[in-house]
Amino acid sequence: MGTRTSNLANWIDARFPMTKMWEEHLSKYYAPRNFNFWYFFGSLALLVLVLQIITGIFLTMHYKPDGERAFASVEYIMRDVPWGWLMRYMHSTGSSMFFIVVYLHMFRALMYGSYKRPRELIWLFGMVIYVCLMAEAFMGYLLPWGQMSYWGAQVIINLFDTVPIIGPDLSLWIRGDYVVADATLNRFFALHVAAVPLVLLGLVVMHILALHEVGSNNPDGIEIKKHKGADGIPVDGIPFHPYYTVKDLVGVGVFLIIFMAIVFYAPELGGLFLEHDNFVPANPLVTPEHIKPVWYFTPYYAILRAIPPIPLVDQFSGVFVMGAAIVVLFFLPWIDRNEVRSVRYRSTAFKLNLAMFAITFVVLAYLGMSPAEPVLVLLAQLFTALYFLFFIFLYIISKNETTKPVPDRVT
Ligand code: HEM
Repeated sequence: MGTRTSNLANWIDARFPMTKMWEEHLSKYYAPRNFNFWYFFGSLALLVLVLQIITGIFLTMHYKPDGERAFASVEYIMRDVPWGWLMRYMHSTGSSMFFIVVYLHMFRALMYGSYKRPRELIWLFGMVIYVCLMAEAFMGYLLPWGQMSYWGAQVIINLFDTVPIIGPDLSLWIRGDYVVADATLNRFFALHVAAVPLVLLGLVVMHILALHEVGSNNPDGIEIKKHKGADGIPVDGIPFHPYYTVKDLVGVGVFLIIFMAIVFYAPELGGLFLEHDNFVPANPLVTPEHIKPVWYFTPYYAILRAIPPIPLVDQFSGVFVMGAAIVVLFFLPWIDRNEVRSVRYRSTAFKLNLAMFAITFVVLAYLGMSPAEPVLVLLAQLFTALYFLFFIFLYIISKNETTKPVPDRVT
């Protein structure tokens, strides 16, 4: 039996780099031995991506991308399709969990300076993934054709109207009609189930290839390749398989317990994961009282509402600042000018600035969920300023920071 398997492996290896890939990316990929809690989220993001694709395929088998039938087809999936409720709730919970995992994954990069040389491309691919993920979630949310699907899309697509000169044509082109309608639903369906997932998968492959080209960073932010043994293997590196495959399985176990607890016991999570208004069929004649996006978009939504219209560009000011809040993240590798990567060895000023940024993001998320009352809008303006100040401070602090001595080997 043993020789038979190795014969088969040899047969394949002569035709396809199976063993070579296994070794390059798993059994002989040497990862720093000091990965901590924060390093679970990359593999968890991969897990959620796979779950979303599988549950999405099953949903597509029963869903109808038609303005007359979409809402009812989702109800049919929930009530009549065997295990349909499970596929639907796993998919809707999965979208929120995806963002939780990705936000923690990104915050890890901020803490340990994982975006710095030579890992800028890993970060940039990550940022493009993030933008695609937002597009994917936005388009998926239209598909159940509930009140919030409809009006949320109406509000967000109308933002493109504000772009100078081309705005009205642009939003018409996106919608395929003068209002969100059947044509919009059809194209969002095509983009959501085929186009964007393909792009996402390709980007994730590039993200990981870029990571394996330069090697993983770690909580000490030091380069393990600097110290190699006589065998040419980094002395502080351990093979990804079996060490981290097994460790990541623990993360997967804990994650699945939390994930399934939400799916089984609280799939709406009090209106946070599935909004109450979305259990009402889309009605173009009745606007819901508070139109707001799902929680993972609300920090940006708060920024959008915080910026008042200004003469000449009118509402575009808000759209511009909201866009800038995302675009500025792309430039992080060049905004942070310090050589020291890990927060462990950086100045108190850096630590305070980073903590403030995390708080700001959460407060903005809360403000974006709340009705736009004058006091809250004022607060949103303050926190929008703090959001951008993080990057300005970082640029200034990082140039001449008093950092602690960085160890030579991992601690
Ligand atoms: C579908 C979404 C994503 C998947 C599946 C994914 C997957 C991964 C995996 C498996 C790793 C290696 C394990 C780890 O370091 O945790 C990784 C590393 C990394 N990812 Fe992602 N990622 C995603 C999104 C993002 C986003 C949105 C960003 C940032 C904008 C990002 C930035 C990084 C960085 C900087 C590293 C290197 C970390 C280090 O070596 O310290 N990723 N990613």
